[in-house]
Amino acid sequence: MGKETAERPGWWRGAVIYQIYVRSFADGDGNGVGDIAGIRSRLGYLRDLGVDAIWITPWYPSPMADGGYDVADYCDIAPEFGTLADAEALITEAHEHGLRVLIDLVPNHTSDRHRWFLEALDSPPGSPQRDRYIFRTGSGPGGHQPPNDWQSAFGGSAWTRIPGEDQWYLHLFAPEQPDLNWENRRVHEEFVDVLRFWLDRGVDGFRIDVANSLVKDQTFPDIGPDHPDVLEPTERVDHPHWDREGVHDIYREWRLISDGYPGERIFVAEAWVPTPYRLARYVRPDELHSAFNFDFLRCAWDAERLRKTINDNLDAMEQVGAPPTWVLSNHDVTRHLTRYGRSLTTGRGPRTEQLEPIDVELGLRRARAAALLMLALPGGAYVYQGEELGLWEVEDLPDEVLQDPTFHRSGGNVRGRDGCRVPLPWSGDAPPFGFGPDGSVPWLPQPPEWKALTAEALRGDTASILELYRSALRIRRELAGFGDGTLRWLDGPPGALLFERDPTLLCAVNLSAEPFRLPAHAEVMLASGPIAGDLLPRDTAAWLRRPTP
Ligand code: BGC
Repeated sequence: MGKETAERPGWWRGAVIYQIYVRSFADGDGNGVGDIAGIRSRLGYLRDLGVDAIWITPWYPSPMADGGYDVADYCDIAPEFGTLADAEALITEAHEHGLRVLIDLVPNHTSDRHRWFLEALDSPPGSPQRDRYIFRTGSGPGGHQPPNDWQSAFGGSAWTRIPGEDQWYLHLFAPEQPDLNWENRRVHEEFVDVLRFWLDRGVDGFRIDVANSLVKDQTFPDIGPDHPDVLEPTERVDHPHWDREGVHDIYREWRLISDGYPGERIFVAEAWVPTPYRLARYVRPDELHSAFNFDFLRCAWDAERLRKTINDNLDAMEQVGAPPTWVLSNHDVTRHLTRYGRSLTTGRGPRTEQLEPIDVELGLRRARAAALLMLALPGGAYVYQGEELGLWEVEDLPDEVLQDPTFHRSGGNVRGRDGCRVPLPWSGDAPPFGFGPDGSVPWLPQPPEWKALTAEALRGDTASILELYRSALRIRRELAGFGDGTLRWLDGPPGALLFERDPTLLCAVNLSAEPFRLPAHAEVMLASGPIAGDLLPRDTAAWLRRPTP
């Protein structure tokens, strides 16, 4: 690991971490699917962008029933992405570039092709092999009905029957993703081995997939008709499979493991929970380090609602001494440029009936302002690949190319998440836009309009969103007072978000319909759009240097 990275204690408290969705980042071998060779070839880009770390979505062997979140072997690499040696080389090279590396851990479920599940199927009911998973006897005569009414997050029952038996197995996601049984000590031990496997190879941390779902009510009660989906968490206390008390014991175990390694190895929780106070429970001092604040992602472009969301999160995290972690987009939600460009403001992938035209220009203006807001807030932040290029959600992908299980399991009613996973445009005038070698065909088609949004086209254009991100990340590194810490709100006109951070920064965001006069300042360090004199236009943010007293 590079000297610079090794010597910054608490690096993660204010880190900006770039999410790489492997299949869509860069394709080194030209088979249309992103891979480790592609990531290695773009490390210089990420270093120059100015992020502190990368999070790589699952890269393990997988039948890809859910984009790799169906893991068939936690200690190897999918052949289409490379080899274990490639992964090790990537970790080393990333460190040489001063970038830390987080990988994705998927502990709630395995692939149905995982050795453990194949062994379970080959073993009789009640066997230790079956006990790694959650098998239950069906209800009704002959066990023909599922054991209870639990629903899969991708639609349909959460139970699948084993042919020729009255036994069913639980899958909170696709049938190809059987849930592990975290009541079984062997499962705990096996995951400790997995953590050690990767920690020994130098990874700096793990993003924990659906961290709020591992523990289930062992009475398996019915939930009732109003079962919410993953991204719209229920407020119900004591839910039978979301956010149960027992998950915290698992994370206390894991924290002891990561603390045993040098160099501050960290965990970030993906936990869709109803309040920031529930989220804070995952980041108590002896549990995980950080947790995505999805309330910020889900919040409408509205000053009062954003201020409340920010305040509630700051308050909840402060109570446990953890830094907030902000995020605007990821591989599961509609890209924020598109969300901000239409009245639909939730993070959910678009349902067909909700599709209304987007105003790309408005979405981009707001996305630029949102970036400066997010990067000025106390704590850490995640950048989803392509948001620095101003990519929008591709909503007109033809049905036949869609791969998200949500699309198929909802009978086509929910288009799913492919639209935010379209391969990145790097260079050139036509697909594959440097995603892979010329002549290769990306696994999802790229819009021809993206020729204006390639990294190559935007680089060096001071008005581009890429240069905005680069400037913001440079200032954030160079100037004291960004990242970990606190903020003070200042009064402003309706629709304004104004706050200052010691010792230098004053951040102003205009979410109203009218321009407003900037507060007293010594210098405009950076703005998300043109500023006319002292007036901050609508949907614009500025980082100001505070006046010297
Ligand atoms: C991941 C999704 C995945 C699901 C099941 C998540 O929340 O981010 O992409 O489909 O977990 O593993």
